[in-house]
Amino acid sequence: MIQMAATTSRYVELAGRIAASISDGTYGIGSRMPSVRDLCRQYDASITTIAAAYRLLERRGLVEPRPQSGHFVRAAPLEAQEPGVSQPHPRPTEVGLGELALMVMRDSLDSQRSQFGPALPDQALAPSVELERIIAGLARRGEAGTQRYDVPPGHRELRVRIARRAAAIGCDLGPDRIVTTAGALEALTLALRATCKAGDTVAIESPMYYGLLQSIESLALRVVEIPTHPRDGIVLEALREALDEHPIAAVVAMPNFNNPLGSRSSDDAKRELVELLGSRRIPLIEDDVLGDLAHDGTRPSPAKAFDRRGLVLWCSSFSKTAAPGLRVGWIAAGKFQAAVEHMKFTSSVATSTLSQVVMAEFLASGGYDRFLRRVRPAYGARCVAMAEAVARYFPRDTRVTRPTGGFVLWVELPRTVDAHRLYDAALDAQVSLTPGPLFSAKQRYRHFIRLNAAGWSQPLEPKLRTLGTLATRFAERGSR
Ligand SMILES: Cc1ncc(COP(=O)(O)O)c(C=O)c1O
Repeated sequence: MIQMAATTSRYVELAGRIAASISDGTYGIGSRMPSVRDLCRQYDASITTIAAAYRLLERRGLVEPRPQSGHFVRAAPLEAQEPGVSQPHPRPTEVGLGELALMVMRDSLDSQRSQFGPALPDQALAPSVELERIIAGLARRGEAGTQRYDVPPGHRELRVRIARRAAAIGCDLGPDRIVTTAGALEALTLALRATCKAGDTVAIESPMYYGLLQSIESLALRVVEIPTHPRDGIVLEALREALDEHPIAAVVAMPNFNNPLGSRSSDDAKRELVELLGSRRIPLIEDDVLGDLAHDGTRPSPAKAFDRRGLVLWCSSFSKTAAPGLRVGWIAAGKFQAAVEHMKFTSSVATSTLSQVVMAEFLASGGYDRFLRRVRPAYGARCVAMAEAVARYFPRDTRVTRPTGGFVLWVELPRTVDAHRLYDAALDAQVSLTPGPLFSAKQRYRHFIRLNAAGWSQPLEPKLRTLGTLATRFAERGSR
């Protein structure tokens, strides 16, 4: 593990040095870069390391490979600026989303539409064939296990597999500290129920995934939204101030690739977050659903890895990677384990046995890791390409994030554009998007939208251009 981490950081470091030689003009636009062999000699590195460094630079849009000729410096990529730190409403409020999210989800899933809306993984990259083969094999052998309940904590083999993966990223939990759930949203809801009661206030990163906001709303909790940096995650100083000012029952954060921001907190920031909350005995509910999708292939540790007090409730699933429809997730709830097991049992008895068996086998066969190796760089490249297309077709002052994991882009439009009206106009043009107001308790972010880059490819460019044209029209005329 340690050796793997060292190799990984070496290629990232070398990519940084090669990038520096492009930005200081040693290699100008269009010029040919040194060959892989030359760089092996120059940096005393292996072919694999240099090839990985070049692949990273390709994903960042700095160089392009040409068949039989090597790598060339690309024309300066079109880059829009990034949004700034979010500025949510500073006081605790109720959540007022109502039915909006479900409506948007239904509209977006219409297969006639180009789906830039829901944050679903790309179907074409999905490991459907592998999963179907596993299901067929289980059925043939009569081992699908659908006849029995796997009562909480859930299917043992699956928990063993999750525990092994957790250990490799710094969480020595063991299978008995994990409860399987029907996806991450159930895990997060159980975490909220175990730590809060109606009327309590939770502090949340802002913007925040709307499914969690809805769960908070349905439990009659209040929220205080905390400013979040689009690259570095929750602003700890702002969180500290909120904790000083308001009684906070729990904090909800997505340190690895916030949806919609794509932000990622450093290990130091995660440690500081866990210590800050631990010293005040406040539980941290960690949504790590996108943690496996780091574009550079290095799985970041969750905040749970720094938890010494059992106060971090780590929640995740295989929905953004293997298959959302399997509905397999988990929670490692620390001190709240017994409460979570009981709540899971009283709310749904057990997670689908078949889904758990399938996922356990997919993990055991190595298929999941092979799949991740395929999909992570693809999502990285798609995020870069789609962000470039946004810069090309959207109004001049548009800002867009540059996530280093996951597959969504958070787009800030000129203030005159109303995201709901853009959403309606886009649906008429057979394009879906997710309006920004869904990501805040009081429907702020009115001039923001979230775009899904997972399925991005060149043929979708005309649809994005249409969206950009609509946004430009609204920006010029004002759509409010
Ligand atoms: C950030 C985030 N957390 C949790 C979930 C819910 O995941 P699941 O489908 O596993 O319940 C989603 C799904 O969109 C998500 O984007």
